[in-house]
Amino acid sequence: MRVEVLNGVNLDQLGRRDPATYGPLTYRELESQLYSWGKELGIAVRVRQTNHEGAYVDWLHEALDVADGVVVNPAAWTHYSWAIRDAVELFTSPVVEVHLSNVDEREEWRRFSVISDLVAKRIAGKGPDGYREALEFLAGKANA
Ligand code: DQA
Repeated sequence: MRVEVLNGVNLDQLGRRDPATYGPLTYRELESQLYSWGKELGIAVRVRQTNHEGAYVDWLHEALDVADGVVVNPAAWTHYSWAIRDAVELFTSPVVEVHLSNVDEREEWRRFSVISDLVAKRIAGKGPDGYREALEFLAGKANA
C-alpha cells in the first residue's frame, strides 16, 4: 500500500512555532517519525511539505494516480482554501485530515475546515501521534 502525507504552509517551521501548541518536534523529526511508522506498518509512505498552495494542489493531483490513501494537514489552508477542497473532492481513495493542535478548541476561525465533510477521518489535537493514527487507519482500510 502506498500513502502520501501532504503537509502545508508553515509546517516546515515546526520546532520554532509555539511548542505549547505544536509540540517540540522539528519538521525533520516529524518526517522521520512518519517514515519509520510507515516501515513498521508495511506502508510505502512519502512525506512532502510546501508553503505554496499551487504546489500542494499539484501534489494532490499526483496522489490521485499513485496513492491508496492520503494524509493531509493543509495547515492554515484548511480554513479557507476552496482550491484544496476541490482537489480533495477528486479522491476515491480515503483521505485523512490531521492537525497537530486541537483546532476545535482554538480561535473561532480554526474550527472551520473546508474539507471536513469530504474526509474519511479527522484527527486533531494528538500531536505527531495523530499522523500515526491516520496511517493505522489507512492500513486497516487496506486490509479490510
Ligand atoms: C494546524 C492547525 C492550523 O490551524 C494551523 O494554521 C497550522 C497547523 C495543525 O496541525 O494544528 O499551521 O493544521
